[in-house]
Amino acid sequence: MTAEQRSFDMSPYFEQHVFFCTNERSVGHKRGSCARKNSIGLRDYMKNQVKTKNIKNVRINTSGCLDRCELGPTLVIYPAGIWYQCNNKEDVDRIISQHLQAGDVVKDLVLTHHQVTIND
Ligand code: FES
Repeated sequence: MTAEQRSFDMSPYFEQHVFFCTNERSVGHKRGSCARKNSIGLRDYMKNQVKTKNIKNVRINTSGCLDRCELGPTLVIYPAGIWYQCNNKEDVDRIISQHLQAGDVVKDLVLTHHQVTIND
C-alpha cells in the first residue's frame, strides 16, 4: 500500500464503537444524569464483559452527555447509530450478546427516533 493509498483508507479502527454516557449532574437537577443512574458501573461492567468474552474489534468508550438524560443511562453504538437505554447488567448482557456479537438490534431497549428527539 502506498502512502497515498494509506492517506485515503477510511476504514474504521473498530468494527463497533460504543459510547456510554457517564455524565454526572448535581443531585436534584431537573434532567437528571446517567451517572446518577449507575452508568459508570454499567460501563465498567460492559468493558469487563467484552474483555472477558474476548470480543474483538469492539471499543467501549466513555461519553459525555448525549442529551437524552431523562431516558438514561444511555449509550449509542456506531456505525449502526443505534441508541439504547441500558438500566442494569442484564441489559448490558443483552446488548453484548444480541447487538455486538450477533448483529441484531435489541428492540425493546432501543431509544426510538421520537425518544431521541423528544427534547429538541
Ligand atoms: S447525562 Fe447521559 S445523556 Fe445526558
